[in-house]
Amino acid sequence: MSEWLTKTLTLNTGAKIPIVGLGVFTSRDPIEQAKATPWVLTALQAGYRHIDTAWIYGTEKPVGDAIKASGIPREELFITTKLPWNHTKRVQWSIDQSLKNAGLDYFDLYLVHWPHSVAYDENEPRPRNPDGQIKLDETGNFNDTWAEMEKVLASGKVKAIGLSNFSIKTMEELFKTAKVMPAMLQVEMHPYLAQNELLAYCKEKGITVTAYAPTGYAIVRKDPTVGEIATHYGATPTQVILSWHVGRGVVVIPKSADAGRQKENCQILNLSEVDVQIINGLERNQRVCNKPDEFGNVSGWSMERLGWM
Ligand SMILES: NC(=O)c1ccc[n+]([C@@H]2O[C@H](COP(=O)([O-])OP(=O)(O)OC[C@H]3O[C@@H](n4cnc5c(N)ncnc54)[C@H](OP(=O)(O)O)[C@@H]3O)[C@@H](O)[C@H]2O)c1
Repeated sequence: MSEWLTKTLTLNTGAKIPIVGLGVFTSRDPIEQAKATPWVLTALQAGYRHIDTAWIYGTEKPVGDAIKASGIPREELFITTKLPWNHTKRVQWSIDQSLKNAGLDYFDLYLVHWPHSVAYDENEPRPRNPDGQIKLDETGNFNDTWAEMEKVLASGKVKAIGLSNFSIKTMEELFKTAKVMPAMLQVEMHPYLAQNELLAYCKEKGITVTAYAPTGYAIVRKDPTVGEIATHYGATPTQVILSWHVGRGVVVIPKSADAGRQKENCQILNLSEVDVQIINGLERNQRVCNKPDEFGNVSGWSMERLGWM
């Protein structure tokens, strides 16, 4: 087992989070989502102890089933889930749904998935207006949602609360009313989107950062500079990219449904300072995951409103 699966960072709650975890977003197709159990199980068997899911991924149940099948004691695991944007007006109900889906008594970390609120439709978590844009619910705000998250924390149903897809701009707005400092910010991050200012801001506030889409997909994995460095270490491009994150004190949650790639993704390298600087030089503020649509928006919010400029 890779020693990196047992290395942790300490959250501002005092809890420890394994620095390498497994992402469990798979597809918008419920049939594909339900197939996640066996590959989450192979990851647990390979030594992964940190799993990242979300209500909207439809994989809370497959994750819970894999945990049960693994026989690993609950206290040895770190499980994150996320409040979906269409449940921001029903947070207490939503956490109970997530716990029931996973068959767990608590989550280690509960994130507000997006700063947006989306209209609630029982049958459609991504409802759209006739023009094709996501149907937003503008009757509340993330400050209200965070107050509900604070109640979830107090209930003991989750051990820590945090944010996803927030920016310095939206966090500054949140901090006007927040009583609890978020333990975590999960954002898209990879060598083409290094988010240096955001990372420094979070470090200064004591907020741990998790990189999603941490490998940068094929576009970053196939970068020739990353490839050259990988050859030099006798490693793979993915290992070089994930090692760059870990060296910056960032948690990574690569998703792989393949047992071989799961093992590959937890072999972290000690990159030289020169190589780190070369990778830092690849920064180009390029999103590969949640990109603006034809309206210039990401799920109904402009880049400016998100603070993603
Ligand atoms: N908070 C948010 O809004 C948000 C958004 C996106 C993602 N996330 C979380 O972050 C996790 C990771 O992000 P992601 O899944 O978008 O991106 P990722 O982990 O960077 O990339 C996953 C893709 O890369 C492939 N892959 C993984 N390891 C590989 C390797 N060593 N060599 C070649 N290909 C490899 C996977 O295919 P195989 O499965 O076939 O290996 C999959 O297609 C998600 O699962 C989810 O938990 C959160």
